[in-house]
Amino acid sequence: MTVCEAPGKVYLFGEHAVVYGEPAVPAAIERRATVTAEPRADDHVRVEAEDLSLDGFTVEYSGGTGDRPDVDVPTPLVEAAMGYVDAAVRQARSAADAPDAGFDITVESDIPLGAGLGSSAAVVVAGIDAATRALGEPLDRRELADRAYRAEFEVQDGQASRADTFCSTMGGAVRVEGDDCEPIEAPNLPFVVGFDGGAGDTGELVAGVGELREEYRFAADTVESIGDLVRTGEALLADAVPETEPSPELLAELGELMDFNHGLLAALGVSARSLDAMVWASRDAGAHGAKLTGAGGGGCIVALDASDATETALSFTQGCEDSFRAELATEGVRVVES
Ligand code: MEV
Repeated sequence: MTVCEAPGKVYLFGEHAVVYGEPAVPAAIERRATVTAEPRADDHVRVEAEDLSLDGFTVEYSGGTGDRPDVDVPTPLVEAAMGYVDAAVRQARSAADAPDAGFDITVESDIPLGAGLGSSAAVVVAGIDAATRALGEPLDRRELADRAYRAEFEVQDGQASRADTFCSTMGGAVRVEGDDCEPIEAPNLPFVVGFDGGAGDTGELVAGVGELREEYRFAADTVESIGDLVRTGEALLADAVPETEPSPELLAELGELMDFNHGLLAALGVSARSLDAMVWASRDAGAHGAKLTGAGGGGCIVALDASDATETALSFTQGCEDSFRAELATEGVRVVES
């Protein structure tokens, strides 16, 4: 039995624009998906999932995810979760050159599904790592990140960047621009997350931005402006002292860029009333800045505030179901048991 766990992430800057080759800076957070893989004697895959914002479900299949689990949970969420696990198994089989390998897989996650915190990437990264290790063919981190990206790319119909999967694999803050992915140094940023209890459809939201970008030059310019903003933010991080408490000036400057980034994402149609309400509640509470994180449409916002004020304000904000401080996860995917 092999158990691996991988972190979720928040986007400091750059989601959506990263799909079109602009840079993005996500940061891994201490909320993890844990995947257990136990090889089987046959070629079946049995998946048991808990806490994927569902009541939990179990499904067993031999080929693909065509078999529907007979459980009373929202089908799109089951399909989403199963799609990612299935793609992870395919990548593990191919990496280990074991096309008929069967597994009992258990997924546990404290990252809400589809809420902008990189739940699917964490499940895919931990899943491929656990399954390849269980087959005696562990991958190095770069290959693991690459295979996890390919799994997401497949499930999201080609509309995925390397950002979520690279960040979950490596941990810490990373910079992704097209195929160019590197860990970067960052100070200890005081992230606060607000969660509206909902989820967005990443594929639909990414497609929506793509259509706007095709239709309007100013939408394409908006995507490019997000890239400019990310480059400005990166320069600020590069000048900061890594792994220390950030100065008030740095927090103010990063916060301003986060506010700007949220405005540009809203212009691209990926915010939501609940996300805007949480962003404004954070700003009113004195956060340095706040923005939606991930694909949007619903899910989470991230704010910068070292005090308790934003977390408290969010807990009283209508439409906010949960708020919590998110520590930077300096370690990416890791083996818990092998
Ligand atoms: C989703 O977490 C982030 C997006 O930029 C899509 C991607 O990068 O694959 C919206």
